[in-house]
This record gives sequence, C-alpha cells and structure tokens, in this order.
Amino acid sequence: LASIEINMTDIPEGQTKTFEWRGKPVFVKHRTKAEIAKEKAVTVGDLRHPQHDDERVQKDEWSVVIGVCTHLGCVPIANAGDFGGYYCPCHGSHYDASGRIRKGPAPLNLHVPAYSFKDNTIVIGS
Ligand code: FES
Repeated sequence: LASIEINMTDIPEGQTKTFEWRGKPVFVKHRTKAEIAKEKAVTVGDLRHPQHDDERVQKDEWSVVIGVCTHLGCVPIANAGDFGGYYCPCHGSHYDASGRIRKGPAPLNLHVPAYSFKDNTIVIGS
C-alpha cells in the first residue's frame, strides 16, 4: 500500500504500536508528557546524529519512525533500552523516545517517514 491510515484512538498514551508499511515496520509512539519533556531537554550537540526532537515530530505527543535499525537493519524492540525508546537486540543499539540513537553501534537516528494527520488518524506515506 502506498499509504496506511492509523487510528490514533487505538494507541493509548504511553504505548507504541507497530504497523507494516511498504514492507517495513513503522513504530507509532503516543508519548507521555514526561517523555516529551525529556526528549525536548536533550542537548543536541551531545548526540551522534544531532537532531532536535522538534525536527522529528509534527505533534509532540506522536513519534512516528521506521522500525529498522540503522546499523544492520534488525527490527528494534519498542519501549525498551536505556533511553526509554527502542532497543535493538542484534548488537545493542539504544534509541530514545524520539528514535534518536543514543548508545551502541548504529550510526543514525531511526528514519522518520512522510506522514500527516487527518482527523483522528495518522496517514503514513502522505
Ligand atoms: Fe541493530 Fe546492529 S542491527 S544494533
């Protein structure tokens, strides 16, 4: 499918759900206020792949990323790891709740796909 629609009401605050889009997993994370505050406060200059959270989300409550580790392509585990985001068990990469690489061998942040909000849905691939 060129695009998929995700019903936002199906994902309670604090949870992450995985969807398949163009043969790849997509993680949609409904972030808590605490998670948002934590990610906004990260010093960008300390990051391996420096990106502010604002560059990676359209609405602070929702983080949408491609679930493919930027190291060698394994699928990370959601809501795991040392930084409250994702953990890739293949070689131990830890991503934060913005999908940014924080520890381990992966060189880049998790990719953010094209998406948009429409009523109470997130449209991935538009
Ligand atoms: Fe994820 Fe190597 S593929 S850490």
